[in-house]
Amino acid sequence: MSQGKYIGVLTSGGDAPGMNAAIRAVVRTGIYHGNTLFGINRGYQGMIEGDIEQLNRYSVSNIIKDGGTCLQTARSSEFLTKEGREKAFKNIKRFGIDSIIVIGGDGSFRGLHQLIQEFPIQGIGLPGTIDNDLYGTDFTIGFDTAVNTALEAIDKIRDTASSHSRLFIIEVMGRTSGYIALYTGIGGGAEDILIPEAPMDMQKLTAKLNAQHKAGKKSSIIVITEGEAAGGAFEIKSNIEKVIEWDIKVSVLGHVQRGGDPSAFDRVLASRLGYESVLAVMNNENDKMVGMANNTATLTPLEDTWTKKKDMDMTYLKMNEVLAAQQEKALEVIA
Ligand code: F6P
Repeated sequence: MSQGKYIGVLTSGGDAPGMNAAIRAVVRTGIYHGNTLFGINRGYQGMIEGDIEQLNRYSVSNIIKDGGTCLQTARSSEFLTKEGREKAFKNIKRFGIDSIIVIGGDGSFRGLHQLIQEFPIQGIGLPGTIDNDLYGTDFTIGFDTAVNTALEAIDKIRDTASSHSRLFIIEVMGRTSGYIALYTGIGGGAEDILIPEAPMDMQKLTAKLNAQHKAGKKSSIIVITEGEAAGGAFEIKSNIEKVIEWDIKVSVLGHVQRGGDPSAFDRVLASRLGYESVLAVMNNENDKMVGMANNTATLTPLEDTWTKKKDMDMTYLKMNEVLAAQQEKALEVIA
């Protein structure tokens, strides 16, 4: 293992609860092993502007429990240009930094991969995104907290939906990844879950809802992913309400899902990944993402994390259909 490295850490893209726990683990593991640690503020934009400071173990005291990121984050359009990346590289070299650990999602990893191709810099990715859409790790930092936050909201909506006998369409984040919708839908006992990984036939859905309503079903909850091919929650509502006489309401949960204190699961995952990322740097690994798969630390080439599709276990969706089925349908499935 190489010691005495100058390591920079940054958070990039959308913030995710648990990023602070990851920063803390990177800084403390790095210093413990005799490296010098730097915080790069505001992601790649801070790198371009030279917004960099040395950190000690106390710089990261008491942040493990906090949501957001103490290093702040940004989506930098300047870093998408070769000139921007060159400026960024020159700045980290000014501080003597020879390795960077990037905590973020696929966009941040694409940027890191590009930088590594163009300049002599070592880089390791650490999966931090609520979307849980990266190949090479079972879970990403922030996903568990986001699911629990959305679930709390769905439980509350359930109370008002049943009091008013309404059909609610709840839109959750995730871009085109259905993990948040799948987990919150199952956890919240949703009658239907719409995810891009399993496009739903809208006519079938409408017919089913109609039949349920006519059979006396009072309230219902549909959880959908924001990037659903059939459209967002409002579009689906306007299509469905033409043919269903049910009082339909929409709730878009939005950025509330990104905030809040990280769950225990996210704190533990972030700490482990932060620790593993420094070991990867010291083992001279490069252009890879650290992850956890089947409870084992893994390293995946950065490019695979967005070019390969993470397998979703469709049994969960099938299971939810069974759990939410009306009595007659359930008997049909058992038979
Ligand atoms: O990637 C995380 C995420 O929260 C997505 O689920 C969402 O589509 C996007 O970021 C929103 O980005 P922004 O905060 O830049 O609007």
